[in-house]
Amino acid sequence: MAQRYDIGFLGGGQLARMSIQAAQRMGLQCLSLDPGSDTPASQIADAIQGALNDPERIAEVFRQSNRVTLENEFIPADAIQEAFEMAGVGEDILLPGVGALSTIQDKLLQRQAMEAAGVPSPRAITLDDPAKAAQTIGFPMVIKARFGGYDGKGTRYAKTAEELESFRDLWGRGGWLAERFVPFKRELAAMVFIDEHNRGCFPTMETVQTNHVCDLVFPSGADASEVAIAAVEAVGGKGLFGVELFELDSGEVLINELAPRPHNTGHYTLDWGGVSQFDQHVRLVMQWPLGSPEGQETCMANLLGQVGAKDFRDGAKAAIEDPGCHVHWYGKVESKPGRKMGHLNVMGGDNIVERARLARDRFYSAWTR
Ligand SMILES: Nc1ncnc2c1ncn2[C@@H]1O[C@H](COP(=O)(O)OP(=O)(O)OP(=O)(O)O)[C@@H](O)[C@H]1O
Ligand SMILES: [Mg+2]
Repeated sequence: MAQRYDIGFLGGGQLARMSIQAAQRMGLQCLSLDPGSDTPASQIADAIQGALNDPERIAEVFRQSNRVTLENEFIPADAIQEAFEMAGVGEDILLPGVGALSTIQDKLLQRQAMEAAGVPSPRAITLDDPAKAAQTIGFPMVIKARFGGYDGKGTRYAKTAEELESFRDLWGRGGWLAERFVPFKRELAAMVFIDEHNRGCFPTMETVQTNHVCDLVFPSGADASEVAIAAVEAVGGKGLFGVELFELDSGEVLINELAPRPHNTGHYTLDWGGVSQFDQHVRLVMQWPLGSPEGQETCMANLLGQVGAKDFRDGAKAAIEDPGCHVHWYGKVESKPGRKMGHLNVMGGDNIVERARLARDRFYSAWTR
């Protein structure tokens, strides 16, 4: 007997919402598990309210869904393993696999997987022995929490041994790594997809980060697909992955990190005319034929919560004065400054990057007026 839901999502933020929207267009029934209520996903589909690290709640999603996927990499792999047993389902219900997830959710294991596979990425080592780390990595170094970092939270730069010491209250409790500082020319990102029959990659995009939050994404003119695909293969990944890279002056690329899910840097595909990352994600999860990752050049600008924000509709109206501009709003109830609230895609015609910046300026000023 078929389950009630075609796809269950672990997590209920904007990535689950936009995946659910893609699934619903194809007529699929969706469920999400989410700690909050009135969240981006639960506004548009059935939801179970519960903690993402609670095996019992995860098992509930497994019991009610034919296929299951996730929207963040912080759900403990152990809790998922326990939930497989509780629900009496095989591991293959979940995409991406729990093995790839457990490697990715520990930034040190992720680095070690790259090294073992010969995929270029910064050398990293545990900070449990700081003297050894300093000797092996040298300065300047970047230190990172092995688990749970996002939007640059859990990332610090240490130019000297004294600076490293000044962060002891962070790393002193354990669970941190040190890695080589990469003097990159720019940051790139690409969405990779792998299933039984295909492996492929969406275009390589340039990403601009401001205060550690992705700000703008636009076509890079580079092609990092070979390294990006090799990185996903290095963790045994199946499904859709966001791959963040550093490009050096020489043109060489290094892996920064992988995300086993749709990714902010793939949002441009919602309007580019080809298959979107969310469509592709749903097809992968359903084990359906894939789309080919081709479309028009598009620039994405994130819309972040602003101090003094009022009605977003005023912002949306102002932004789309440019007929090539499309608004995506996630429906988050609370708009904290810096929080990802939506994004704009600009395509068609010239100067898409400049036009995306201008459209966002119009959005922000009308929203906060
Ligand atoms: N080894 C490095 N050398 C130089 N800069 C780095 C290095 N590692 C990270 N950074 C900078 O810090 C940013 C955040 O790092 P990282 O991507 O590891 O953190 P995160 O918090 O997991 O990611 P996100 O911001 O994607 O959620 C990177 O996008 C890059 O700008
Ligand atoms: Mg990152």
